[in-house]
Amino acid sequence: MQEQLKQLKEQAMAEISKVDEKASLNEFRVKYLGKQGLLTQILRGMRDVPAEQRPVVGALVNEVRALIEEQLSAKEADFEKREMESELAKNYIDITEPAQGHERGALHPLSKVFELLIDSCVNMGFKVVEGPEVELDYYNFEALNIPKNHPSRDMQDTFFITDNILLRSQTSSVQARTMEVMKPPFKIISPGRVYRNDSDATHSPVFHQMEGLVIDENISMADLKAMLIVLMRKTFGEQTQIRFRPSFFPFTEPSVEVDVTCPSCHGEGCRLCKGTGFMELLGAGIVNPKVLEANGIDSKKYRGFAFGFGVDRVAMVKNGIADIRSMFKNDIRFLKQMK
Ligand code: PHE
Repeated sequence: MQEQLKQLKEQAMAEISKVDEKASLNEFRVKYLGKQGLLTQILRGMRDVPAEQRPVVGALVNEVRALIEEQLSAKEADFEKREMESELAKNYIDITEPAQGHERGALHPLSKVFELLIDSCVNMGFKVVEGPEVELDYYNFEALNIPKNHPSRDMQDTFFITDNILLRSQTSSVQARTMEVMKPPFKIISPGRVYRNDSDATHSPVFHQMEGLVIDENISMADLKAMLIVLMRKTFGEQTQIRFRPSFFPFTEPSVEVDVTCPSCHGEGCRLCKGTGFMELLGAGIVNPKVLEANGIDSKKYRGFAFGFGVDRVAMVKNGIADIRSMFKNDIRFLKQMK
């Protein structure tokens, strides 16, 4: 039996030195130390060993078992170490590498212009109100003195959803909504999105306007002009001049078109303003008394002025943007240029 044990020891040592993967280690353990294992089988012969030899044989058995176990755990530790090393090599992180840094985002040119316009107006005491983009024909047209089939509807190529529901074609719809619920005197602006069936370099089917409405006693064109001069100087610079040209809107009487001196040449005439020295930016006027009455405001006591302008145009002029559509494409190269 001692001979058998020695042989087993040698066989085991030879075999374990050849084990080269972790999975085979368990097979080895079962083969030698398992319940049906080789060592256990030899141990069954213990019965036949004479009593006085048993301590010696027993010691040898323990020695062989200990040796095998020791080899096993040494191998196991070795495999684990190698696994860890290859894992570390794969997921190598160079902690000395300089950080890449974050790219800074920026506001969209339109958001910046809206912020500027709204801030300037709020500083002059205006309240910001908003209205729905899906609007009733009533607020977009009828309450503004534009009855059904009125020719002036042609000026605004409107997207109708049903006969009475449309995508608002002007923020002037908020004028009517405001007069309905607010008691004069009040000063409001209404920034937002509007829609018209129109698309080229200077027209987009969705664009932006900012409406203004002031209702009080004794309002005149002078108030409108003074207010617009302040707003336009804050927007385009202190040397800015404005001029009024007669125009027509059904909801203002008299109506004007407001031009601003070209922010590029300051009135000299250049390519941007096609040599005129001015840019057409707003529609405005004194609120038509018919509109006040239709919306429940006493036109004997109150008067008002209103204005509305194309915010996209302001953003384009300020940033030298040639095509309005580039503002809505979300092209990262364009947006980076606008930073
Ligand atoms: N709503 C008009 C337009 O879209 C602009 C305007 C607003 C004119 C307020 C007069 C008063 O063209």
